Amino acid sequence: MGSTFRSPRLVKAEGILTLPPPTMIRDVTLKNRVMVAPMCTYSTESDPSSPAVGALTDFHIAHLGHFAAKGVGLVIIEASAVQPNGRISPNDSGLWQEGTESEQFKGLRRVADFIHSQGAKVGIQLAHAGRKASTVAPWLSSEGKRSSIKADESVGGWPSNVVGPSGGEEHIWAPGDVKYWPPRELSTAEVEEVVQAFGRSAKLAVQSGVDLIEIHAAHGYLLHEFLSPVTNRRSDRYGGSFENRIRIVQEVAAAIRAAVPVGTPLFLRISATEWLEEEPVAAQTGSWDMPSSVELAKLLPELEVDLLDLRKAIRAAGQTTLVGAVGFITEADAARHIVEGADEALATESVLSGYEPKADAVLMARQFLREPEWVYNAAKQLKVPISVAWQFARGVL
Ligand SMILES: Cc1cc2nc3c(=O)[nH]c(=O)nc-3n(C[C@H](O)[C@H](O)[C@H](O)COP(=O)(O)O)c2cc1C
Repeated sequence: MGSTFRSPRLVKAEGILTLPPPTMIRDVTLKNRVMVAPMCTYSTESDPSSPAVGALTDFHIAHLGHFAAKGVGLVIIEASAVQPNGRISPNDSGLWQEGTESEQFKGLRRVADFIHSQGAKVGIQLAHAGRKASTVAPWLSSEGKRSSIKADESVGGWPSNVVGPSGGEEHIWAPGDVKYWPPRELSTAEVEEVVQAFGRSAKLAVQSGVDLIEIHAAHGYLLHEFLSPVTNRRSDRYGGSFENRIRIVQEVAAAIRAAVPVGTPLFLRISATEWLEEEPVAAQTGSWDMPSSVELAKLLPELEVDLLDLRKAIRAAGQTTLVGAVGFITEADAARHIVEGADEALATESVLSGYEPKADAVLMARQFLREPEWVYNAAKQLKVPISVAWQFARGVL
């Protein structure tokens, strides 16, 4: 394994590209408020018999390290499964192998080391895909690059071990669609194992050098499936009432908090609504909607969650939890106004409505795929100096 060269830094930045207070989240100081949101790349070894299954590779060093070298404050590593059957596809990143000698641990440490060497911080999103698991990586799909198809054992899948809060054909993701496997219902003991798995993976992540943990409870994956009364039809203590449905998220947060140092920030990603309010099913069961998210958000301080993507709702509820804005942020001015407050001209856009800052940080995904040097370009546009790696200075300053 090669050694990691630490890029010397130049000048400091201001505004969106630095952090007015809070510059620190717990013990982690970020040099700016621009964060790369987690993005699955389906780029790990998929052979279940290989020790390298699920381990991050040189691809991830180049891909994620590039954002770090080009000035972002925080890079959040893609959804990484806490259990093997929690992968969306056999090619997903995972962190379920025990101990610090595993390939998954070593792969993660290399990525974390490189990101640190470029002056950025690194987080990891811990996840379980639930009933959306065991699909073929998008580019392997015969149906075109945007679809998934079921992954069976011949391609490293686990059809009989796709799980959810509730099981059976009626709980297939996207009912009527042939692309997903029917889940089986997790037993109560298995739910407890999932909770413990999040804690174990978080501990390993921090040991490998990762600075912060994000819990993935969004986008219809396992924790979201528990939150929603549409997908969670359980009758044990993890189903039924709102209190029961959010229990798994509370326990996952507690397990992670117990496993990591007190100075480690904890982020939570949820879907503010699953957009079923107008659907017939919501009339029967209810759905996970904005009021549900606000109720959950109110509990976050006691869960010691530090940052949530829910924008105005949390601020309105008077919470101390930090807020990260994500989705369709592409322009430097928009990003600055989200964290610094908007002027009148920009306040017409929904994300910027009003003049107050709407979030404490911006998380961006696709724009970094299009424009990895977004921070450099934003600094130029906003006319603020930034801290750049020495190797790039002649092209930037
Ligand atoms: C290729 C790709 C992979 C993604 N993978 C994840 C993921 O692993 N976890 C997650 O929570 N969101 C994932 N997302 C969603 C992004 O994090 C982000 O929320 C979304 O793309 C909206 O932000 P954007 O408009 O800046 O792209 C992914 C998005 C893309 C485009």
